Amino acid sequence: MQPNAQIFDEIVNNRRSTRKFDTEAPFDTEAVSRSIDRAILSPNSSNMQLWEFYRVRDKEKIAHLAKLCFGQGAASTASELLIIVTRLDKWKSRQQLNYAQIQKQFEGKPIGKTEKRALDYYGKLMPLFYSHDRLNFINTFKKIFTWFRSLTQLTYWQVSYYDLRTIVHKSAALAAQTFMLSMTAEGYSTCPMEGFDSKKVKSYLNLPAGAEINMIIGMGLGLKEGVYGERFRIPRNQVVFEL
Ligand SMILES: Cc1cc2nc3c(=O)[nH]c(=O)nc-3n(C[C@H](O)[C@H](O)[C@H](O)COP(=O)(O)O)c2cc1C
Repeated sequence: MQPNAQIFDEIVNNRRSTRKFDTEAPFDTEAVSRSIDRAILSPNSSNMQLWEFYRVRDKEKIAHLAKLCFGQGAASTASELLIIVTRLDKWKSRQQLNYAQIQKQFEGKPIGKTEKRALDYYGKLMPLFYSHDRLNFINTFKKIFTWFRSLTQLTYWQVSYYDLRTIVHKSAALAAQTFMLSMTAEGYSTCPMEGFDSKKVKSYLNLPAGAEINMIIGMGLGLKEGVYGERFRIPRNQVVFEL
């Protein structure tokens, strides 16, 4: 095993969801900044980066949010909270930024087939893929079109509004995992939470309708009693298959 793999193995094994942090211990806020920078490097669907990260350091704000997390210790004892938010509503601006980036990459070069494909990906396909309306008219049309298309060719089925929400949450969750592993490497513990009043958290952050809370992560110096029991995983042969 490579030395890096050994270190990674240690990080993965040391990460445990921790529900109680040492509220007296000093906390390196720079470790959080570094971990957010690493989280932003996570893979994400079409590099649209439809995510946002809200840091909460203020004790009163943490206490208020802990209430919205149903009083969970992982929030009330946290040195900081990180709220990961999906921003499906920002697809147009992110598509334009990606398009501009590709254009910049090709500046002064002849536009061949590969370049055109890359430009069309952000210029044509992404607008088609991400356009939606909350009443689902566009997506119903897309679904019918997709079904007919599937009669003659291989088909990408994830075209509904529900699918778009899943897509942005997948990417946000990958960023959450990078963040948590990074915090473990920095010597801290974390707890991902989906147990919270999402409507109240969203309104507390003053977010628009198209934004959703993906996860709230509590963090701090972990206490032993904050880890509930031995790690349990279903036997490997029940979840890992080889084709
Ligand atoms: C999306 C997600 C939401 C979770 N929500 C909560 C939560 O609200 N409260 C909590 O105590 N743990 C929560 N957990 C932690 C899981 O219970 C924990 O990851 C699981 O029991 C495995 O334990 P481990 O993380 O220590 O390996 C959540 C984990 C994930 C991935």
